[in-house]
Order: sequence, then structure tokens, then C-alpha cells
Amino acid sequence: MPSELHCLNPECRAVYPIDEVIYTCPQCAALLESGDPSLTLDPAATKRLWRERRMSNTPLDQSGVWRYREMLGFFNERQHCAVTLREGNTPLLNAPRAAEYAGMDAVTFKHQGFNPTGSFKDNGMTAGATVALRLGMKRVACVSTGNTSASMAAYAAAAGLTPIIFLPHGNISYGKLAQALEYGALTLQVEANFDQILALVRVLADETGIYLLNSVNPFRIEGQKTIMVEMLDQRDWRVPDWVVVPGGNLGNVSAFGKGLRELHAMGFIDRLPRLAVVQAARSAPFYDYFHDGERSKFVSVTEPETLATAIRIGDPVSWPKAIHEVETSGGVVERATEQEIADAKAVIGQCGIGCEPASAATLAGLKKLRAAGVIAADADVVAVLTGNVLKDPDYIFKYHTGGLKTPWGQGIESNFGNRPVVLPNDAGRIAEFIAERTG
Ligand code: F0G
Repeated sequence: MPSELHCLNPECRAVYPIDEVIYTCPQCAALLESGDPSLTLDPAATKRLWRERRMSNTPLDQSGVWRYREMLGFFNERQHCAVTLREGNTPLLNAPRAAEYAGMDAVTFKHQGFNPTGSFKDNGMTAGATVALRLGMKRVACVSTGNTSASMAAYAAAAGLTPIIFLPHGNISYGKLAQALEYGALTLQVEANFDQILALVRVLADETGIYLLNSVNPFRIEGQKTIMVEMLDQRDWRVPDWVVVPGGNLGNVSAFGKGLRELHAMGFIDRLPRLAVVQAARSAPFYDYFHDGERSKFVSVTEPETLATAIRIGDPVSWPKAIHEVETSGGVVERATEQEIADAKAVIGQCGIGCEPASAATLAGLKKLRAAGVIAADADVVAVLTGNVLKDPDYIFKYHTGGLKTPWGQGIESNFGNRPVVLPNDAGRIAEFIAERTG
């Protein structure tokens, strides 16, 4: 049976052909999922095939997404053309200094910031853009806190599609805005927050025939699930105890959970890692849901705030999928304050790794989960860094020079600050200063 779109509402369960231009169920408005429930693969043979493809020079095999195309049932390489910038292929990095900071024996980062546009969005966007092309769409749109738009602009440009980007005015980093401009997107800065603009764009996309590439698009999720496939392939299929990931619109955790479940069901792995999602404290509706004893109602945050602008989201679209994935994996949800995120980010920098603020929520959350005894010191943990250090240099400069303030005016301490030093043009004084500071 080929891939189809399935409604996730247990009372509806409608099924639609894969080439219908829909993002949510036309009957009940619930989220859709792309997949083929009858898919079976021979784990040993498929693992070997995927490993062999790393030696290949063909674009599909070089992509860290399409290399795993047996898991992407909507794509048929004989019929379809993939839009690829050789996304994925992101490293697993050991970070002893970060582990020590969190009170762990070890921690490994899967750094999605090594992607072509510097974030994990490329793993999903290669799939979304490929489907847009196949459906004969001419224009693609997204609302974004910055990374989705940078990624969509690049993949649309590569595919010859017209990218239209909606951004919350004044609340995205210049690195990300600059990327959208450079890749030639029509860039609209709307005076509203991410959640408000997403509601608007969902209606607009339907009315104008523009293809929507937010993570409500089920094919984005399919691409992003390969982050977990690649991670396991790189670890020779040793399953970690925990996968830690920041949560904003909750597309990534939904994708990770789906990918891991599929691998488990087909016998590629014998257990599921537990998912730990970390949100920014003032943009944390998912945390609130998991920490309300009843877990009966998902309540959005109407005025989300955080300097980690990538995850400044109060009404995440993928929450029903994300709840299912966190619960299925026996996972947890944590939240981190602005100070905790800022310090964790500086520590990741001190490892020579670096990341953008939202990504550092992982280390901040891991430290808290370790302190609370939820994660053991000797647990095998993979934390996913979602974006590149250069995405938000303004934040970095302010942190290190003592000028970082929360949107509500609270100063952030530069606990790991590293100020640049101004010196006169005098070799003697400079040598003296270096000796004083470095011994
Ligand atoms: N980290 C980074 C760097 C992000 O850009 C995002 C989301 C997240 C984490 C959260 O991931 O939404 O799947 O839970 N950025 C989106 C954007 C919303 O528009 O670029 P999520």
C-alpha cells in the first residue's frame, strides 16, 4: 500500500490520498500524519544499505534525509525529484565541559546547526519543498520565528518556487532575517506574534492556493524524523536512554517520536529512548500541561516571552502529536528560565561547539532534570542542538558584555561572560596585558 494521509483523531481516522493539498483533516480539523502502516523493512539489510550509501556520490545518498528514503514512503525515487542541499549529516559531539555543568558523566550533542541553513528545519524542508514541487505548487509560505523561514527561502530558491515569509515584526534575530532576504524571499514582517500570524496564514494559504510549509505540514515532520534515524545509525544503533530537545511549536518532538516508534515497530531498535522536552519558562504551555495533575486540557499561553525567540510560541500547533510521543516514550517536560538558558548557552560555547539560545534550553533542562533525580548521572543522553551559534550574534554580544535583558526588563547576569578588551596600539602594554591575563 502506498503512503497516505491519516487523520490522527481516534474518533475520525479518515484517510486521504497523498497528493491532496491538505494539512489538517477536512472532516474534523485534527492533525494529519503521512505514513504507510503496512511498511515492513528488513532491519539488518536496510541498515547495511544505509551505511553503504554514505560512500556514494549521488545527491540522494549524500543527503542525511534521503539516504533513509525507505522510511519516507511518500517519495518514489523513480517518479519524483528531491530538492536537496545535502541536509542532515550533522555530527554527534561529546561535550565533557557541558556534562560537568549538568552534573552528568557524559553528554552528546547532535548538532543540527551544521545543516545548510544552520538549523534542523532543513531536514524537514527538503521533504516539504519536494512535495510542493510534485504537487505543482508555484508559491510556498510559512510563518516563522526565523529558522523555518531561512530554510524555506533556501529550499524554495533551489527548487524555483516563490517563497513568501511571514515574521513577527521585531522578534526575530538578524541572522535569520538576513538569510530570508539573501535567498530572495518575499519577506513580510507582521505586527503580531507567531501564534496570531500562523492562524492568519493558515486561512490565507487555503484561500490563495499557496502551499503552507509550517510544521503543520505532515511532510516536514517526515523529513525531521530522519534526525533520529541518522543519530542511531551514527551510534551503530545503540539506543540512548534519553533524547533531550527544545520545544516551541512541538514539530520536532512529534517527528522524533514518530521516527523512533517506526524504527521500534520494524525491529531496528529494541526499545525507545525517553524524550525530554525543554521549554522557555514564559513560553511553556506544554510544560504546564504535563505538570497539571489532571492533564485534561491544553491551555495556550497568550503572551509568550523569551529571548530565545525561536521558541517564543504560546499556542503550538503540534501539541496533540507531541503529547502522544512524550507519553509513549515515558518522557518528561521541563522548563528553563532566561538566566538558565543564557548560562547553558555560554557553557556550550566553552566546549567549542556553540548554538543559538533556543538550543541551549536542552542543557539548561538537562541540568535541572539531573538535579531533580529524573535523569541519572550515568544515563546515556543525546541532546539535540537545533540551531547554529551564528544565528543570533546580538544575544551573544550582549550576554558577554553584560547588556542582556529580558523583554520584561530583568538583567541577565554574565556568569560566564567574556568581554572583549580595548587596548592602545602599544606592543609593550599589549604583551604585559596578555601575560597578566593568561599567565
Ligand atoms: N530550536 C530552534 C533553533 C528553532 O528554530 C525552533 C523552532 C525550535 C527549537 C522549536 O522546535 O517548533 O519543532 O518545537 N522554530 C520555528 C521557526 C518555530 O519558525 O523557525 P519546534
